[in-house]
Amino acid sequence: MKRLISIFLTLCLLLGITACSAPQPSKEISSANGSNSELESDSTDSADSSADVEESTLTQPEGSAPQSNILIAYFTWAENTSVADPDSVDVDAITSASVLMPGNVGLLAQWIEEETGGDKFSIITEEPYSSDYDTCLNRAIEEHDDNARPAIQGNIENMGDYDIVFLGFPNWWYSCPMAILTFIEKYDLSGKTIIPFCSHGTGGFAASLRDIGNVLPDDCTVLEEFGAYRPEVAQSKDELLAWLAELDIAY
Ligand SMILES: Cc1cc2nc3c(=O)[nH]c(=O)nc-3n(C[C@H](O)[C@H](O)[C@H](O)COP(=O)(O)O)c2cc1C
Repeated sequence: MKRLISIFLTLCLLLGITACSAPQPSKEISSANGSNSELESDSTDSADSSADVEESTLTQPEGSAPQSNILIAYFTWAENTSVADPDSVDVDAITSASVLMPGNVGLLAQWIEEETGGDKFSIITEEPYSSDYDTCLNRAIEEHDDNARPAIQGNIENMGDYDIVFLGFPNWWYSCPMAILTFIEKYDLSGKTIIPFCSHGTGGFAASLRDIGNVLPDDCTVLEEFGAYRPEVAQSKDELLAWLAELDIAY
C-alpha cells in the first residue's frame, strides 16, 4: 500500500513540474520573412483610436543565416492611422486615398519586397495620426517645425545583418514624416547603402533628401532615389522595376 501511495505522489510531482515548465506564448513577433505586416490587419478598426497593434520585432532565429541583406523600411499613412469605415472613404478624393491599405508608399515597398526578397519593416509611430487630412497635416507641420522625433514602435534586432536599406516615405510638408528621422537615429546605419523612395502629390522629394542626409552617418552611400506621383503610383510598377534593375546592388 505504502508503495502505491509513493508511486501516486511521484506521478503528481512529475505532472506538476511539467505544467510549470510548459512554454509560454512569446510576446515578440518575429515573422519568417521578417515582415511586420501582421500590423496591417488592425489599421482600419476604429477611427482615431490608438492603433491596437503589438510591438513588432525583426529578429533572425538564433544560429540561422540571415535571409536577406536587404531591409525595406517605409512609412505610409495607412499604417499610421485607423479608419472606422473603410467603405466610406472616397478613394478618388485626392487627400483620402492613402488612408486605405496598402497606402502609396506601402505599395511601392511591396513591389520592392517581391523583386528583391528583402525584409519589409513598417515604421509606425507610437501615437497614430488622424485619418482626417487637415488634422494630420497640422500635426505634420508642427512636428516638422519643432524638428520633432515622434517615438516609433518595434525593434529591428538584427540591423547588423542588413547592408542595404531601402527607405520609403511620402512627401509630408515639403519633406518626409519626422518619424523617418527617428528611424535613422534609432539604428546604427553606418556603412550601409541607403536607397530612398517616395510618393508625393506633385512636390517630388522636396527637402526630404537633404533632411535625411543631415542625419545619416557620413559613411553611408546613398543611391539614386525613386519617386512616384500619387495618382500614378498604381501604374508605376514597370518604372520601379526598371529603376531597381539599374541600381548597382545584388539581390
Ligand atoms: C500630412 C500630409 C502632408 C503632405 N504634404 C505634401 C507636400 O508637401 N507635397 C506633396 O507633394 N505632397 C504632400 N502630401 C501628399 C502625399 O505625399 C501623397 O499623398 C503620398 O502619395 C502619400 O503616400 P502614402 O499613401 O504612402 O501615405 C501630403 C500628404 C499628407 C497626408
